[in-house]
Amino acid sequence: MSTLRPDRPDTAGRVHFHDLHPTPADMRAEVLAGLALPQKRLSPKYFYDDAGSRLFDAICELPEYYPTRTEIGILRRHGAAMAARLGRDVLLIELGSGSSLKIRTLLAALEPAIYMPVDISREHLLRSVHDLAAAFPELVIHAVCADYSSALVLPLDDPVSRPLDHWGHQRAAFFPGSSIGNFEPPDAARFLQRVGQVLGAGGRLLIGVDLVKDTRRLEAAYNDAEGVTAAFNLNLLARINRELDADFDLDAFRHDAFFNVEQGRIEMHLVSIRPQQVQVAGRSCDLIEGETIHTESSYKYRVDGFHALAAAAGFSAEQVWTDPDELFSLHCLVRD
Ligand code: AVJ
Repeated sequence: MSTLRPDRPDTAGRVHFHDLHPTPADMRAEVLAGLALPQKRLSPKYFYDDAGSRLFDAICELPEYYPTRTEIGILRRHGAAMAARLGRDVLLIELGSGSSLKIRTLLAALEPAIYMPVDISREHLLRSVHDLAAAFPELVIHAVCADYSSALVLPLDDPVSRPLDHWGHQRAAFFPGSSIGNFEPPDAARFLQRVGQVLGAGGRLLIGVDLVKDTRRLEAAYNDAEGVTAAFNLNLLARINRELDADFDLDAFRHDAFFNVEQGRIEMHLVSIRPQQVQVAGRSCDLIEGETIHTESSYKYRVDGFHALAAAAGFSAEQVWTDPDELFSLHCLVRD
């Protein structure tokens, strides 16, 4: 654990940082395995290098991308009720905290003992928590740079190093943005089960879930007119070029996103516009014209379907909040 930024005296002593980031070797193995599959795929978690995190923040401001603004609207409207459910003085874990903007709607009412944001994007996480600490002068922050999708290891349960004093605080979790939609449903259930283990019996999870809606609206959100989502998708190849010594030609791929109605998910792909061979970390990868690399699935749920998934993971739905158009939902789940 490190306590950071002597150059920011306003946040000194209140912001702690735990680096559990995956190694370049982990990324290399996972990327090569994905590119060797019959349907090539890359994990969406690799979108979020520094440039990718900034592009994602730009997506959140797009007129077509309704989830962020709709979720923030629900949080503003019902934040007090949500905070009352989660309880005061908790150890509050946020998964995929990004810019830590949404949590601001809850912090005043929640007054957590400790705020523990977890995100895979290190620099973005650091910037965000220092801004947050400056805005909330009482807040104690333990930021964790980690890939929550693989193991959900938090600096909590190690009795030897005793990394932070959190004993005696009930735990609660916040998982906004519908990032749960990135998991295949069986993986989503396993992931929620792991969150439940961290929370313990009676622990509460406030989770944002995007809802099934008409295809045109869904597809517009992932095919914005400005091309920011396309740039976000293509940035994955630029990152792999830089970090894994690869030679993807970004002009030889185009962004494609569509709603797969049978599966209930948005799929994002990078389409090879010509036959080509790419070198990645010392291996060759061949693509035929029109072949795709599947870079993201974003599952959309109905309230009942999501509650069934939560139940399979050991959670009961306590309350659900939506916007008037029922575009997006937030759920308070209790671990049985
Ligand atoms: C962060 C996974 C919720 O699926 O809508 C946005 C990511 N991808 N535009 C989503 C994303 C393209 C986003 N999540």
